[in-house]
Amino acid sequence: MDKRPIGVFDSGVGGLTVAKQIIKMLPHEDLIYFGDTARVPYGSKSRETVTKFSEQIIRFLLTKNVKAIVIACNTVSSNCYESLSGTFSDLPIIEVVTPGVESCLKATKNKRVGLIGTQGTVSSGAYEKRLKNADSGIQVFKKACPLFVPLAEEGWTDNEIARLTVREYLTELVEKDIDSIILGCTHYPLFKATIGEFVGEKVTIVDPAKATAVKLKEYLHNNDMLTDNEGEGRREFYVSDNYANFDKICESVLHYTCRAEKVDIENY
Ligand code: DGL
Repeated sequence: MDKRPIGVFDSGVGGLTVAKQIIKMLPHEDLIYFGDTARVPYGSKSRETVTKFSEQIIRFLLTKNVKAIVIACNTVSSNCYESLSGTFSDLPIIEVVTPGVESCLKATKNKRVGLIGTQGTVSSGAYEKRLKNADSGIQVFKKACPLFVPLAEEGWTDNEIARLTVREYLTELVEKDIDSIILGCTHYPLFKATIGEFVGEKVTIVDPAKATAVKLKEYLHNNDMLTDNEGEGRREFYVSDNYANFDKICESVLHYTCRAEKVDIENY
């Protein structure tokens, strides 16, 4: 039994889509969320920079006595996971790419898969390598969709601008006869309805969030680290800059009253 909280982080509001699944799957666990709102987006930054940011965030989360970390960000998961696991070798770290790959392998029938993510995730090749390792017959059609991140941070996920952006980015993938599409950025599930409308029912939308929460639960269970708390877990939210939209989006995603606190993350 372990009553310590779970630490979850992302560059901004995207990781809330993962936090939502964690809360659903592990309702009694305490959770500490950090959104790096001062330094979003991560997707256009170098591996070195994103690794440094992630290390600072993990050091901050460790001051909150977390028992495990969930990297609720594909850019960090696909570029920095090995380095972070080495630096924080005593800390269990769960990433989102492996669960995403496993979910996609279950979803695809025709082995023509679309992958959308940030520039950093797409050019890392992390999804593609793992999908092809598991099944060499899989073809991956990928597309970086950087504009989705600022739109999501603005809360513009189902208006005309969002629909036009979805069409502009996804037309070429849909034309490739894909039967599934991986949302390889945790901001993108906020566009699930808009993307679903565009790609149609024949394309399965793969959101790694749920499978990530399952992995976390399994890990905590296997290591006797689940809490024995009863009732709803406590949730705390931290950001690196004041930002009114965060609380609003957090409440709409999690249905939870959120008052994020600002942290000087550069000090960690
Ligand atoms: N939500 C993040 C991801 O999954 C980062 C997006 C960004 O900051 O560019 O990649």
